[in-house]
Amino acid sequence: MADIRFDGRVAIVTGAGAGLGKAYALELGKRGAKVVVNDLGGARDGSGASTSAADQVVEEIKKNGGQAVANYDSVATKIGGENIVKSAVDNFGKVDILINNAGILRDKSILKMEEAEWDIVIAVHLKGAFCVTQPAFAVMKQNGFGRIVNTTSGAGLYGNFGQANYCSAKMGLVGLMNNVAIEGAKYNIKCNTIAPVAASRLTEDILPPDMFKKLKPEFIVPLVMYLSSEANQDTKMIFNCAAGWYSRAEIICAKGATIGDGNRPISAEEIQQNWAKITDLSDNKVLTNLGESFGFLGNLI
Ligand code: NAI
Repeated sequence: MADIRFDGRVAIVTGAGAGLGKAYALELGKRGAKVVVNDLGGARDGSGASTSAADQVVEEIKKNGGQAVANYDSVATKIGGENIVKSAVDNFGKVDILINNAGILRDKSILKMEEAEWDIVIAVHLKGAFCVTQPAFAVMKQNGFGRIVNTTSGAGLYGNFGQANYCSAKMGLVGLMNNVAIEGAKYNIKCNTIAPVAASRLTEDILPPDMFKKLKPEFIVPLVMYLSSEANQDTKMIFNCAAGWYSRAEIICAKGATIGDGNRPISAEEIQQNWAKITDLSDNKVLTNLGESFGFLGNLI
């Protein structure tokens, strides 16, 4: 099996000044990629800004013999996203790999959540991924190559108490992937999504200390490297990953129940009668696009 290398490739990692993003940027640099280390350098809740986080990671990549530049824009605006991609194009001529990783937390239970807490979390995670992906996609399309990795969370995929904003934003990243994978298919742009669990400032007061020590960001890095590489031909997939466990996650469509003939009205009581069949997941399919769901309608239309 050939080594996974990124010689000649240009990568953008958002939120690469710390935690997971830093680990990805360092490994990309070691494996030959030219890296744009983007980080706003703010606090865990998204407040403030500083250049030092991104600068330190650039220093470390260079110390290891790699090439990197820092970018301090926020992903959360269109102009910020454009500047991040411009930084890749101006310094290294293109962009091949984008890892949408920047993130913050503003946790509150639903009744206590303020509009501003909702807005900023959606802006950084979801709008931020769009703002960087759009200009990066344009360059990737021209070059006929792109690898995009989005970052969701088990909180989005499965739910978590106290994170209405975060759960919603993170599930939105799956929606964005679904679109980008379909629109990117004919340009060799693959888009996948990871749901990591790893020790970082985002999880230091959430994970029990014993677990925190074991859940090293380095365990997430190999999956992200593979998904970012030419070797990866898969797209539109979601992966759980933590501590050496890697597992595909999917949104599936159950076979369900066919009631009526497509003409006669259907009563609520018939739904109740068929509830076991409607909710039974044992016979299911992964759909590649919206149109495929019409296949379930059979003789009804
Ligand atoms: P982290 O806090 O260590 O790193 C996030 C980085 O993003 C920080 O360096 C921060 O300055 C940067 N950032 C924040 N807002 C930004 C903005 N507007 N523009 C540019 N950069 C910005 O956190 P961690 O854990 O490494 O998180 C990375 C990603 O993984 C996030 O999207 C997070 O939601 C996600 N994630 C992490 C999990 C974990 O267990 N650590 C679990 C599930 C998802």
